[in-house]
Amino acid sequence: VRDPLILGIETSCDETGVGIVRGRTLLANTVSSSMDQHVRFGGVIPEIASRAHLEAFVPTLQEALETAGVTLDDVDAIAVTAGPGLAGALMVGVSAAKALALSTGKPLYGINHLVAHVSVGLLHDGHGDVTRELVDDDGALVQGLGAVLVSGGHTEILRVRDLADDVELLGATIDDAAGEAYDKVARLLGLSYPGGPTIDRAAVDGDPKAFKFPRGLSNAKYMGSAENRGKRRYDFSFSGLKTAVARVVEAHEAEGLEVPVADIAASFQEAVVDVITRKAVLAATENGITTLLLGGGVAANSRLRDLLAERCADHGIRLVVPPLSLCTDNGAMVAALGSRLVSRGVAPTGLAFTADPGLPV
Ligand code: KG4
Ligand code: ZN
Repeated sequence: VRDPLILGIETSCDETGVGIVRGRTLLANTVSSSMDQHVRFGGVIPEIASRAHLEAFVPTLQEALETAGVTLDDVDAIAVTAGPGLAGALMVGVSAAKALALSTGKPLYGINHLVAHVSVGLLHDGHGDVTRELVDDDGALVQGLGAVLVSGGHTEILRVRDLADDVELLGATIDDAAGEAYDKVARLLGLSYPGGPTIDRAAVDGDPKAFKFPRGLSNAKYMGSAENRGKRRYDFSFSGLKTAVARVVEAHEAEGLEVPVADIAASFQEAVVDVITRKAVLAATENGITTLLLGGGVAANSRLRDLLAERCADHGIRLVVPPLSLCTDNGAMVAALGSRLVSRGVAPTGLAFTADPGLPV
């Protein structure tokens, strides 16, 4: 018998994503982003994102079906991001998915966006390039799985015992997400939005040691000896870092000095990447995590990938970094988790659920 065909729908932020998988084989991953409409505002405007989802949904669905060479009739189940995310944006995807499920009679699964980011590691492209990164030959999830998710909207460390029902949030940001910190600091430095890529580029010519910027929640009080293990140990805070950058910029301007953009960008990036990688490795070693998946748009950052790879290697942790198109928000990750739920015999969510902007893991 053929593995079930799963359609995944993602609309939690600015990407309209439709993914199609058969079992664990990726057949299509079509994404339409409204980012270019948010650029002039310097941030994602929820109302614009929602409208863009409405406009992009049908064409994105059609393109994904065409790419996969299937029709809606062929689909065995539909999966849609139920949260967390922007309320209005989520509602577009959830409404569309419910309408599809109702009209076709297909089962519907409401999916947690964060767990979907991890589930993408189950997929392979079906061209002989079977990665089997997160499962063994029998499809059992690897023991000791964890994830660090860093994007414009979220920054979390997760422990995953079962993708269906046993995911624990070990740590999260208490203020800005990592990508948000990039965006805010880019603005302070007069660099364009989104800040991730522009700061990453500016940092190439800078000295990461030029300024010693704070690593939030990472002094001995939070990350000291294991006996000291307290709240916030695996949590992040980027607002102090942003303020520290603002002070340096102000000080230069007050003296009439040119702002050393490259040095600030490099030093800021080093602070972000240092704290993310240190906390991820600390959480991993203290919680039996031996395979760590990196997800979210900030995974595009080469310094983050390099330092995380180095520190994971030092601690015997296997690092899994999916292709970038599967790290940023997409529909394939939603389909991947939907497919996992179907194969594990989990009952569909049905039609009686709603978008939940604060959905916990
Ligand atoms: O996952 P994603 O596409 O959407 C959200 O859920 O936010 O992530 C986008 C985020 C943005 O904040 C962007 O600035 C950041 O990823 N980003 C980067 C880089 N490329 C994109 N951050 C750091 N370095 C990069 N090279
Ligand atoms: Zn995301």
